Amino acid sequence: MSENILIAIAWPYANAEIHVGNITGSHLPGDIVARYHRLKGNKVLMVSGTDSHGTPVTIAADEVGVPVEEVYKKYHETFLEVFEGYGITYDLFTSTHTENHFNVAQSIFLALKENGFIFPKTSKQWYSASANKFLPDRYVEGTCYICQYESARSDQCDNCGNVLEPEKLINPRANTGDGALELRETEHFYLDLSKLEPDVSNFLRQRSKHMREPVLGESLGKIEAEGLKSRPITRDLDWGIPVPVEGWEGKCLYVWFEAVIGYLSAAIEWSRLGAEPEAWRAWWVNSDARQFYFIGKDNIFFHASLWPAELMGAGSEFLKIFDGGDQALNVPYDVPANQFMNLEGQKISGSRNWAVWGRDALTRYDPDALRYYLTVNMPELKDSDWDWAEFVARNNNELVANWGNLANRVLSFCYKQWDGHIPDLDEKTLRPTDLKLLSTIEAGFESVGSLYDSVKLRAALSECLKLATSVNQYLDTNAPWKQVKEDKVEAGKTIYTALKAIDSLKVLFAPILPFTSEQLNSFFGHKRPLFGESYTEEISDSLGTHKGLRYRGAESAHWKPSELEPGAVLNQPAPLFKKLEESVIEEERARLGN
Ligand code: MF3
Ligand code: ZN
Repeated sequence: MSENILIAIAWPYANAEIHVGNITGSHLPGDIVARYHRLKGNKVLMVSGTDSHGTPVTIAADEVGVPVEEVYKKYHETFLEVFEGYGITYDLFTSTHTENHFNVAQSIFLALKENGFIFPKTSKQWYSASANKFLPDRYVEGTCYICQYESARSDQCDNCGNVLEPEKLINPRANTGDGALELRETEHFYLDLSKLEPDVSNFLRQRSKHMREPVLGESLGKIEAEGLKSRPITRDLDWGIPVPVEGWEGKCLYVWFEAVIGYLSAAIEWSRLGAEPEAWRAWWVNSDARQFYFIGKDNIFFHASLWPAELMGAGSEFLKIFDGGDQALNVPYDVPANQFMNLEGQKISGSRNWAVWGRDALTRYDPDALRYYLTVNMPELKDSDWDWAEFVARNNNELVANWGNLANRVLSFCYKQWDGHIPDLDEKTLRPTDLKLLSTIEAGFESVGSLYDSVKLRAALSECLKLATSVNQYLDTNAPWKQVKEDKVEAGKTIYTALKAIDSLKVLFAPILPFTSEQLNSFFGHKRPLFGESYTEEISDSLGTHKGLRYRGAESAHWKPSELEPGAVLNQPAPLFKKLEESVIEEERARLGN
């Protein structure tokens, strides 16, 4: 039975390029799980987009003195390049600055208001008299009142990860040079999270068996310790989504309140771009669908507490406002947040150029080599470290030596000795050791599959490598390279068996190494590709145009053991991976920090 799987990936702020920490944190794990489910024959919808609003983006624009619109579009373009290059196969990667998203976000807001979960309140916010405006969120920095970190932003502390109440910040200062700050009264809408707390707790408890421990700690653990407090969800800003209430002109929805709604609006946008405008419901109004949210640890509160609260609070009222329906929307199934990836022992920092940039790395390395290292080192449960010496070592000793050479050695040997064909034999003549190897590999579809399904991607990769090792051992024992001179029929059984194993292994590796698995698939002479392809499309609406990254797929279920036929024709093989020189290590280290 085919399942509907929503792969929802954190929307990157349009204020910086994407680095390897972002890729391994959310985009890559999301893509791996999406590709696994597509291979299984499930119906996958993978969405995200550029987080175009909020102070992270307006500050970036202020700094260079250009319109915000220009800045968000510039970074958006670089994101699309990175995703195409690394094979991050979004069904739609859009932007929060679209008419559709404005509509959906405003409808969620109105549904929450209608249901009594939103109330107006006057509070004190930081105001700059010299700039004559309120300075929300990241415009103000100061000392965190929880952990004493001195460069906390007024809405969130990067050190302890807590979401902050701006007026409690110690020693607040405007990071725009807008002079002294004072607290002034202003009116905002608040989301009554305390009223929604029982629902959020229940939601989290129901998922406590499969959610990661750090995610539960940051959500359920925090709620049990401190409860959920109401939070302001509007801001005194003019770049963003207008508050859809009369008399509230000049105020916008808080960037986090609306950006999480993007998962829903992107699904709706995606289906309206296609032939079935109502298709999004299969992932959103369907109790059998499963939704996975791939994010970094600093996003846990927003995805595991705020977003479910918005969805449950809006309830069936959202569809009533949006299109006259009357059902409630799905809530997340899992939020497999990752920890952070450091670089050579230090925190990644864009401003100090202590980063491996996504686009730049692609100019020197193949995407599967990068995906391999980013998976082996994925910060699933604790922070990890990108180390250039380790990158080279793992590439050469694991990816090339174990898997790449295995595939290349067997395919080229067969291509040469059997004249471009797979040995033609009667499968009944295979020996017990051959059958044993094939059944070991076959069992991988179950074991590796369940690791992908439960988002244990490092474990999935290590299981694949273990299986590749067993094929290498089988070849060492049977030595077909020698045997071929003495008994070509026996050697043919060995090569046939190894080819079948490799043909299967290629599918198990494919979610992590899609480019080279696709290549292998064509060396084997298979007609149906494993995956579809990405492309970009200009999308226009009343707010202008935005470029979307799309995916069109060869959606056939490949998740099953090899069906290679004896005697079939092979295509000319070539090495899948490149060995890297040791000199790479020092060259790359020299690029850092300047
Ligand atoms: N822009 C945020 C960040 O980079 C993530 C937003 S995820 C969303 O941390 F769901 F809110 F869009
Ligand atoms: Zn702090």
